[in-house]
Amino acid sequence: MALLPIRKYGDPVLRAKAKTVEEFDETLKTLAGDMIETMIAAEGIGLAAPQVGYSICLIVVERGLIEDGEEPAAYVNPLILEKYGEKTTMEEGCLSVPGITEDVTREANIRLRYQDLAGNTFEEECHDTLARVIMHEVDHLHGNFFTDYLGPMKLRLLSKKLNALQFEAQKDLIELRKMGVA
Ligand code: NI
Repeated sequence: MALLPIRKYGDPVLRAKAKTVEEFDETLKTLAGDMIETMIAAEGIGLAAPQVGYSICLIVVERGLIEDGEEPAAYVNPLILEKYGEKTTMEEGCLSVPGITEDVTREANIRLRYQDLAGNTFEEECHDTLARVIMHEVDHLHGNFFTDYLGPMKLRLLSKKLNALQFEAQKDLIELRKMGVA
């Protein structure tokens, strides 16, 4: 197990469209394990593979933070088949956008199709916080951030912080490339 460096807003991997996972091998299991460890160490509730530099359709969710007794879970090739029910607004943050939290409005429920790390396919209804976290993480697989939902006024107010993050992301990338990680 290893902690992976978390890419920041401005890193191009976070704007790329993630590839479908086709090989359900040890490499995938190791990556999912490392992502879970990284998410927990960073006190996050969810993490998508592009956030640690892998442009593939894999997300992890710390379900224990949502419901007592639940284990962290990995979802491979998650596909939101349907979003339904009333919309709710909640403050969201993101490990790739540190220092910024904003209200985001999303549907309360989703119907999700995904695969586990062995490649078995499941369909599940997810509600409330779990649905929200999965929608947030699946957005990352499409190259989107929660900040993309904000209006132009809000974005203008955040522009200094976002520009600073983009600058940091570029500096991080130079370091990661030196280390041969990116
Ligand atoms: Ni995020």
